Amino acid sequence: MDIEVVINEVLQRIRPTEEERTFVEGLMEELKSIANETIKELGLDVKHYFVGSLAKDTYLAGDHDVDLFLAFPLETPLEELRKKGLELGKAIAEKLDSYEIAYAEHPYVRAKYRRVSVDLVPCYDVKSWRDVRTAVDRSILHTQWVNEHLDGRNDEVRLLKRFLKGINAYGSEVYVRGFSGYLAEILVVKYGSFLEVLEKAGFILRQKIIDPADWLRKEPEIARKTVEREINENKPLIVIDPVDPRRNVSANLSWERYGIFYFKSAEFLEKPSIKFFFPPEKPWKNYLEVLRERKTILLTLVFEVPNMVDDLLLPQLERSAKGLEKALEREGFKVLGWNVGKTEKAFIMLELDRAERERIMLKPGPEFFTERGRRFYEKNEKVWIVGKRLYSEKRVKENAVDVVIELLEKGQVSLGRGIREAVKGANVLLNYVPKELEKETYLFLSREKWNLKD
Ligand code: UTP
Ligand code: MN
Repeated sequence: MDIEVVINEVLQRIRPTEEERTFVEGLMEELKSIANETIKELGLDVKHYFVGSLAKDTYLAGDHDVDLFLAFPLETPLEELRKKGLELGKAIAEKLDSYEIAYAEHPYVRAKYRRVSVDLVPCYDVKSWRDVRTAVDRSILHTQWVNEHLDGRNDEVRLLKRFLKGINAYGSEVYVRGFSGYLAEILVVKYGSFLEVLEKAGFILRQKIIDPADWLRKEPEIARKTVEREINENKPLIVIDPVDPRRNVSANLSWERYGIFYFKSAEFLEKPSIKFFFPPEKPWKNYLEVLRERKTILLTLVFEVPNMVDDLLLPQLERSAKGLEKALEREGFKVLGWNVGKTEKAFIMLELDRAERERIMLKPGPEFFTERGRRFYEKNEKVWIVGKRLYSEKRVKENAVDVVIELLEKGQVSLGRGIREAVKGANVLLNYVPKELEKETYLFLSREKWNLKD
């Protein structure tokens, strides 16, 4: 299909209609007066700002969550900002439809109003990066920067965001580690259009550093430190935040997600199709069939999720999966891959070469003429010598499930700190997963989960 035709069709679907715009603008007006009124009622010295894609007019049709930031004066102590910010958020939310408390660096209120999700986030009223004190403070500056530089290319951002969503590379949350909305906006500002960003997918990676605000000249010392730090951490891309030379906008972007973008950009330019933006759901079948075809074994640990945010939980799950992989390899199993995640409970899946291993394991000992050699000789039932060294055998558990349970009991697996006890209490399942994990399991075992090709 012609690229223009594809783009136009996608735009039809992602550009908000006049009706949606009117609704959103009305909503913002209402929220604005409710916020002002409540600030007055509580006698607070707080300003409100709309941030995020709504305030930048880069939201996708149908996806118009509101971010309303409640900005406290810089002199406010952090503790007071936390407390008063939450109070104010609650007071505003009381006038909306419903709300709950959500947790990030500090707690904030997530409300619902006319079926739209409204985040009420306390922050500092920063005028420059030097004022930034909490992770969310920059958002106000981001919104200003984008509105000053986007120059009418809002639909180009929409296209890029929808493309990144379609190829599974959008979102800076830890379970994606992809492109954030702000990064998409910067790329469009820098390279001019959706298509130009795609054409430069390889170039951008080779250039490595994007510095739209010229910080390397204006604040060379700080900006160079940022670059150095991010290079040392082997980041695929360093985008010095136009509003803060200390920050890499793409700090959470992984090589994997950039890799998808790299291949899919080229593929799209060569063979444009709407399916890049709106992919059909991947077909899936019974995971047991896949196990049979692959002649492998699936070991799944399922356990209660400790009460922590995804940002913390996921890295811990990954660390634990790696620990299990190492421990199982030490015990003579081959680990072909692992997968972690969370539904109601958390899970760690490991694909193994076999469920059973030999009942005995060779036990190499020390050199026979040493003190340790004598002890080894006394302690073991059968002992023999190969060269200078003593050898023996030990009986071991045969079954992978028993091995894992024993390893966990003996504390011989390196596990993520905050979930150590939870993993130790896991249910260990062999070639079986709970119903809600069946699709996930199929996608993992078939490697369709991250397969780049259709
Ligand atoms: P969002 O993730 O909601 O992005 O973050 P967005 O621009 O509103 O895009 P969509 O349409 O909802 O997906 C809101 C703001 O938080 C800051 C940015 O200022 C962004 O505008 N933010 C968020 C970051 O700077 N980096 C991140 O990784 C995430
Ligand atoms: Mn948003």
